[in-house]
Amino acid sequence: MRLLVTGGAGFIGSHFVRYMLERYPGYRIINLDKLTYAGNRDNFQEIARHPRHRFVKGDICNRPLVARLAARVDAIVNFAAETHVDRSIDRPASFLQTDIIGTSVLLDAARRAGHTRYIQISTDEVYGSIEQGSVDETAPLRPGNPYSASKAGADLLAQAYGRTYGLPVLISRCSNNYGPNQYPEKLIPLCITNALEGLPLPIYGDGQYRRDWIYVVDHCRAIDALLHHGIPGSVYNIGGGHELANVDVVQRIADTLKIPAAKIHFVSDRPGHDRRYAVNDDKLRRLGYRPVTSFDDGLAETIRWYQEHRAWWGKIRAGAFRRYYQEHYNDSNGKKRAAAKAADRRVRVNQSVRRVDRRA
Ligand code: NAD
Ligand code: TYD
Repeated sequence: MRLLVTGGAGFIGSHFVRYMLERYPGYRIINLDKLTYAGNRDNFQEIARHPRHRFVKGDICNRPLVARLAARVDAIVNFAAETHVDRSIDRPASFLQTDIIGTSVLLDAARRAGHTRYIQISTDEVYGSIEQGSVDETAPLRPGNPYSASKAGADLLAQAYGRTYGLPVLISRCSNNYGPNQYPEKLIPLCITNALEGLPLPIYGDGQYRRDWIYVVDHCRAIDALLHHGIPGSVYNIGGGHELANVDVVQRIADTLKIPAAKIHFVSDRPGHDRRYAVNDDKLRRLGYRPVTSFDDGLAETIRWYQEHRAWWGKIRAGAFRRYYQEHYNDSNGKKRAAAKAADRRVRVNQSVRRVDRRA
């Protein structure tokens, strides 16, 4: 099989490329990545000269380039995206451009190339906050921030291409990933690298927001299962089976690295913060897949990796990341707090409007 993997210089995409090259000795992979701030050549250094791997630096919005590459493959797996919720709240434009327009360019190219199997890597965040229980693939999409709204837009487009043009499209909606090579803006790598640098571990709001964590290699195994056994036209949830409150995740990192409790800082909340994500992934499990990495093992492995790869994250944190961190965690705390307060006020106004409606 010849694969076009987009976003293969990012966190999950680079793990997927390595996993597939190792697992399938006959497969060839074209890895298309724009190398945004989150893309990193160091993520695929050891396979850079692999005879079955070809890296192409380019944008998924570049129509002629994408058409040329799509014509040479049997399947496309689209990881390329802008992915950080906090950045999407500050500057949503690039999320709409890459996550929606970029996806439409890829879908178009897949359609024109013939019966190219297409996997859209989506997220459980498209369902919005799930206060209780869990949702299966038939649940409505209720995205709560510009990142998840862009991903939901891409999902709908992918489904429309399946229905309208008969493109063999599959969509995966996975929960929160963690593991080696994750850009240190996300909760787990941010807290590990902050701890290793003696900085505070920031927890938004009351820390009782809940996420379901999956080790990145388990996510790769799930996509492998979908690529080979998924039913075209279907959506598959992918869960990790490890739901935790953020405060517990951060506490475990602190305990492992022997960081004193005083280093855990409760900071102002993220506006529109989704309280909880939880998917039911029975449909995927019926294909024979299940995650195999426990949170304890995965977290220990991840912490070890960051301890042993200071050069990898040191370079990132000394570069453009420094300014982002400064703006987001220091200067903008006041701004964030104001935005969260405004959102709270809107919720309270809406609730009182609903109460008035009910009385009427
Ligand atoms: P990431 O931010 O680490 O990597 C994204 C990659 O996409 C980067 O290498 C970047 O350079 C590339 N990219 C961005 N815009 C591009 C463009 N226009 N053209 C080509 N390449 C571009 O992200 P990740 O965490 O590895 O996520 C990968 C995918 O998985 C995303 O689609 C994301 O929505 C989805 N996902 C992530 C998680 C998670 O917890 N990280 C969970 C569920 C789903
Ligand atoms: P994140 O890793 O950004 O993933 P997502 O927002 O896509 O779920 O955040 C995971 C959870 O951790 C989320 O509830 C927000 C919270 N969080 C913090 O409490 N502090 C932080 O510094 C960050 C980045 C996230």
